[in-house]
Amino acid sequence: MENKFIHVLLFVQLLVLTCRPVSGGGDGVVVSRADYLALRAFKQELIDFKGLLRSWNDSGYGVCSGGWAGIKCVKGQVIAIQLPWRRLGGRISEKIGQLQGLRKLSLHDNVLGGPVPVALGFLPNLRGVYLFNNRLSGSVPASIGNCPLLQTLDLSNNALNGSIPSLANSTRLLRLNLSFNSLSRSIPDSLTRSSSLIFLALQHNNLSGSIPSTWGGTNRTYQLKLLTLDNNLISGTIPSSLSKLGFLEEISLSNNQITGTIPNEIGELTRLQKLDLSNNAINGSIPATFSNLSSIVTLNLEGNRLDNQIPEVLERMQNLSVLNLRSNKFTGHIPASIGNISGINQVDLSKNNFTGEIPASFSSLPNLTSFNVSYNNLSGLVPSLLSKKFNSSSFVGNLQLCGYSASTQCSSPPSQNITLPTKEPLKKKHHHRLSTKDIILIAAGVVLAVLLLLCCFLLLCLIRKRSVLKGKNSKTSKQPAAGSIDKAVPAGAVVSSGGEAGGKLVHFDGPFVFTADDLLCATAEIMGKSTYGTAYKATLEEGNQVAVKRLREKTTKGHKEFETEAAAIGKIRHPNLLALRAYYLGPKGEKLLVFDFMPKGSLASFLHARGPEMIIDWPTRMNIAIGVTRGLCHLHYQENIIHGNLTSSNILLDEQTNAHIADYGLSSLMTPAANTNVIATAGTLGYNAPELSKTKKSTEKTDVYSLGVIILELLTGKSPGEPMNGMDLPQWVASIVKEEWTNEVFDLELIRDVPIIGDQLLNTLKLALHCVDPSPAARPEAQQVLQQLEEIKPPEVNVGSADEGTEVPASATE
Ligand SMILES: *[C@@H]1O[C@H](CO)[C@@H](O)[C@H](O)[C@H]1NC(C)=O
Ligand SMILES: *[C@@H]1O[C@H](CO)[C@@H](O)[C@H](O)[C@H]1NC(C)=O
Ligand SMILES: *[C@@H]1O[C@H](CO)[C@@H](O)[C@H](O)[C@H]1NC(C)=O
Ligand SMILES: *[C@@H]1O[C@H](CO)[C@@H](O)[C@H](O)[C@H]1NC(C)=O
Ligand SMILES: *[C@@H]1O[C@H](CO)[C@@H](O)[C@H](O)[C@H]1NC(C)=O
Ligand SMILES: *[C@@H]1O[C@H](CO)[C@@H](O)[C@H](O)[C@H]1NC(C)=O
Ligand SMILES: *[C@@H]1O[C@H](CO)[C@@H](O)[C@H](O)[C@H]1NC(C)=O
Ligand SMILES: *[C@@H]1O[C@H](CO)[C@@H](O)[C@H](O)[C@H]1NC(C)=O
Ligand SMILES: *[C@@H]1O[C@H](CO)[C@@H](O)[C@H](O)[C@H]1NC(C)=O
Ligand SMILES: *[C@@H]1O[C@H](CO)[C@@H](O)[C@H](O)[C@H]1NC(C)=O
Ligand SMILES: *[C@@H]1O[C@H](CO)[C@@H](O)[C@H](O)[C@H]1NC(C)=O
Ligand SMILES: *[C@@H]1O[C@H](CO)[C@@H](O)[C@H](O)[C@H]1NC(C)=O
Repeated sequence: MENKFIHVLLFVQLLVLTCRPVSGGGDGVVVSRADYLALRAFKQELIDFKGLLRSWNDSGYGVCSGGWAGIKCVKGQVIAIQLPWRRLGGRISEKIGQLQGLRKLSLHDNVLGGPVPVALGFLPNLRGVYLFNNRLSGSVPASIGNCPLLQTLDLSNNALNGSIPSLANSTRLLRLNLSFNSLSRSIPDSLTRSSSLIFLALQHNNLSGSIPSTWGGTNRTYQLKLLTLDNNLISGTIPSSLSKLGFLEEISLSNNQITGTIPNEIGELTRLQKLDLSNNAINGSIPATFSNLSSIVTLNLEGNRLDNQIPEVLERMQNLSVLNLRSNKFTGHIPASIGNISGINQVDLSKNNFTGEIPASFSSLPNLTSFNVSYNNLSGLVPSLLSKKFNSSSFVGNLQLCGYSASTQCSSPPSQNITLPTKEPLKKKHHHRLSTKDIILIAAGVVLAVLLLLCCFLLLCLIRKRSVLKGKNSKTSKQPAAGSIDKAVPAGAVVSSGGEAGGKLVHFDGPFVFTADDLLCATAEIMGKSTYGTAYKATLEEGNQVAVKRLREKTTKGHKEFETEAAAIGKIRHPNLLALRAYYLGPKGEKLLVFDFMPKGSLASFLHARGPEMIIDWPTRMNIAIGVTRGLCHLHYQENIIHGNLTSSNILLDEQTNAHIADYGLSSLMTPAANTNVIATAGTLGYNAPELSKTKKSTEKTDVYSLGVIILELLTGKSPGEPMNGMDLPQWVASIVKEEWTNEVFDLELIRDVPIIGDQLLNTLKLALHCVDPSPAARPEAQQVLQQLEEIKPPEVNVGSADEGTEVPASATE
């Protein structure tokens, strides 16, 4: 936890250091008189043991120009005080309430005493309060709940007492950490209704009462990932409403006085990785619904009154690494399925009432480093691999268990049948009864299988008949996929006449072949309109789907030129480029382009038109960014093509959310006039490099600019189309980075992962800002962008590549 925390801080500070403001800085801006006086008063109440505030000496000219340590300003207003690890004593002045622009107060890891200033509640811009690891006393001021923008309140590890205030009006609060204090009374219900909270850490206090039962009360998405209430005086039962917190990854309720049973609904928390209920007074048995806790890594139920058998469900917890059931009242056999959890490394089942043998499956667990079944009623022989690996303390206290030490030799030569107990006849009976049932089941199965086979056979006949018919109808259509290579037609290219209409269809290699009639008669629905024309989703006879783009009339080049250019585009194959599969020239000059259909639509709609519960995590976004960059590299270096219109609407996503760039090369099909029009439209959408307004000529560098905007779009979740205080997206991001509240740049969904991915976000942001540099010469090349993204991406993120039917270049002729 501590590490994670430091990470966040580093992250914020790194940004401050590395992302230089685009212009100006604070130089020459004089701090306002009110702020100057407030800082003077603030300093007066501190005790500066190490003289680290000596720089706070002049009459105010240095405050905002970097002269005063730990002070950041914007336009003459103090926005941040950051003085952690300075051995500062004394107390925090109430005068701090006069710093109306203050956003961040970071004084953690000092020796500050006195109360948390009530005046913090009067700061309308306050976002972050980091006062942990000090000696603050008194209560948490209720006023702090009036800060509408507060995101982080960390007062952990102080000497605060009294109760936890409501904080209901801080509707942006993401992280509340009041752990390691002496707070008492019960947990306020208001915290259970916060739809913004991600971390709620209240462990090691003196909290009493029961856990509120009002979690997830209203119809909103609850973000809470971490709930730690351990080491308090909490009583009552575990509320089943916890199950409404679908994002929960960690629950710790250990060392309290919780009673009652574990609610069945806990099984609904499919993202839960850690569940610690140890050292309470919980009774009943492990609910069968636990089988749905498929993400669980640590399960600790030690020191309770749980009884009954452990359900076999454990076998679905394939990520389980630590299982601790010590000191309960479990009975029955140890499920052999635990031994099938290949990655498990700690198993403690000691001090229960387990009977039977230790399942042999445990001996084949490679990573098992700790194993304890002592003090149960186990019997039989300890599997020899286990007795070699673990010493006798793991097995003692089981009177009928043998073979784990010299003094516990099994009475007769060790052999498995020694432990086959009296139960055998019973087992046999059981088997017998089952097998009658089995016979009936098997018979039913055979009948079903025969029926199915018959069905398949009939279906096959039908399909064959149909395809024969089709072959007759469209004589000119060849099927390269079928492997009948006709020397007359170059590999992969198929030309067919457009039936009666007299158009022409030219195929490039691809997963399916269709005739012009197939295409023209397909059911189609409009997907969208772009500068080049209208896009349709067409469903062919067999149910296959393709995307068809009908180019605007009078915008394309003449026939001959068009066909030459289209043939070139049809040859391009790359996992991150949308493949052109065919084109159609109609008798009246209409032009259709046929592409693969991408089920997840455009990146623009994926990012900006999704439901509230759809979260796009960072690895997915990174995968998209890398995919787009790879596609662009292929265009720039292999095909020598400048895209000229790279936008998030032109990036399409397949089933696995891999990016495919669309609309590349299309400018070569268009007249110059039409292309100018494209540039103008893209400009209004916010993807155009500034120099384009003068030069009107796309270059590799203008493509890189658009790429940078798309990466910013992935980072911020904001659409470049929507104006932000009159700034475009790059300007907006730069302005916020300059104001040093960089967390606000990122999509809220990503912030919760900052402890883990902070560096990646930061480095990607830097790279993106580099790409959108106003000066084309300063921008990197696509290849460099790719290289850097691949360095930023951690190795475990798998960048999947899309399925390509074939990589063989195709050519098209008449
Ligand atoms: C809360 O504070 C404690 C003590 O400072 C720390 O160990 C823990 O990691 C923090 N938790 C969160 C979620 O910030
Ligand atoms: C104020 O402090 C700075 C940095 O410690 C120092 O360079 C400067 O001379 C001091 N000014 C006065 C008036 O003491
Ligand atoms: C909190 O602690 C202070 C001493 O630091 C004490 O005077 C006060 O009564 C305590 N308040 C509560 C509610 O326990
Ligand atoms: C929240 O704000 C409203 C209106 O600003 C106020 O009436 C209410 O008392 C506040 N609630 C708390 C708990 O501070
Ligand atoms: C915790 O609360 C109980 C009463 O609820 C009180 O008796 C005890 O002194 C408190 N302990 C601390 C350390 O504040
Ligand atoms: C909850 O929200 C969903 C859509 O977000 C809506 O269909 C449903 O009616 C809402 N239910 C209640 C009880 O408000
Ligand atoms: C759990 O314990 C309570 C008393 O503390 C008792 O009323 C209840 O019946 C027990 N439940 C089970 C399932 O044993
Ligand atoms: C697990 O979850 C699925 C789907 O959410 C549900 O149908 C099933 O009943 C659950 N299993 C148990 C044992 O609760
Ligand atoms: C198990 O852990 C791996 C690696 O941490 C993760 O990728 C996977 O999603 C986890 N499985 C489940 C079911 O959570
Ligand atoms: C055992 O641990 C090693 C190292 O932590 C890991 O690479 C390996 O995948 C683990 N084995 C299993 C079966 O989980
Ligand atoms: C353990 O279970 C046996 C029956 O299987 C029972 O006789 C015995 O009392 C139990 N011991 C404890 C400590 O619960
Ligand atoms: C164990 O079973 C084998 C045959 O499976 C038999 O030869 C042997 O005598 C048995 N051992 C004992 C101790 O019963």
